[in-house]
Amino acid sequence: MRVRQHVNPLDVFFETFRGTVPTLRAGHPMELEIGCADAQFLFERAAQDPSRDYVGVEIREDLVDYVVKKAKKTGLPVQPVWCHAQLHMKQVFARGAASRVYVNFPDPWFKRRHHVRRMVDAVLAEQIDYVLAHDGELFVQTDVWDIAIDALSAFEPRFVNQAGEWTFWKQGNPYGVRSWREQNAEETGLPVWRLLYRR
Ligand SMILES: C[S@@+](CC[C@H](N)C(=O)[O-])C[C@H]1O[C@@H](n2cnc3c(N)ncnc32)[C@H](O)[C@@H]1O
Repeated sequence: MRVRQHVNPLDVFFETFRGTVPTLRAGHPMELEIGCADAQFLFERAAQDPSRDYVGVEIREDLVDYVVKKAKKTGLPVQPVWCHAQLHMKQVFARGAASRVYVNFPDPWFKRRHHVRRMVDAVLAEQIDYVLAHDGELFVQTDVWDIAIDALSAFEPRFVNQAGEWTFWKQGNPYGVRSWREQNAEETGLPVWRLLYRR
């Protein structure tokens, strides 16, 4: 798949929700990836356990189109939603709808003037707090140290760190599937910082 340019999440265009609300099966747990890109992680999860629903929120429309086509082709229960994760979660989901939330490799926006575009902050934490079930789990992974620190300060003490306060999860990715970016980081030998939270 061709990987396109980033979009600026601060563009006023993204303030209005234009996506499609996913159809969730009653009684089936839902797992949510925020910033899913090609949704490799969710497709692999869905192949492992198709009894669950998998939703990826993604701000890039071309990636949403790609995931819709792949879901049709594979028949796996993966649905993308075109939206801005910091703004639209409450328009898309019922409170507590997600049994798990994954934040896999958020965009780093390395240039200092672009730091304001970073997704992991107190606003995203509040949106995750809304969508995560009362016994839900939040998993975060990044290969960028600054983003790992942003995640610690955004998610604690709101969620309970399963490795201890302000401590990284050292036992690797527990799910047995990898995102596209995770695969790339591992294949190129980049360090990966992980965090596992529960309520
Ligand atoms: C570096 S990619 C990682 C993709 C995937 N999670 C992985 O690990 O391979 C980050 C993704 O987050 C999306 N994204 C960035 N800001 C977003 C936002 N505010 N709302 C939804 N998606 C966002 C980007 O478009 C991009 O596809």
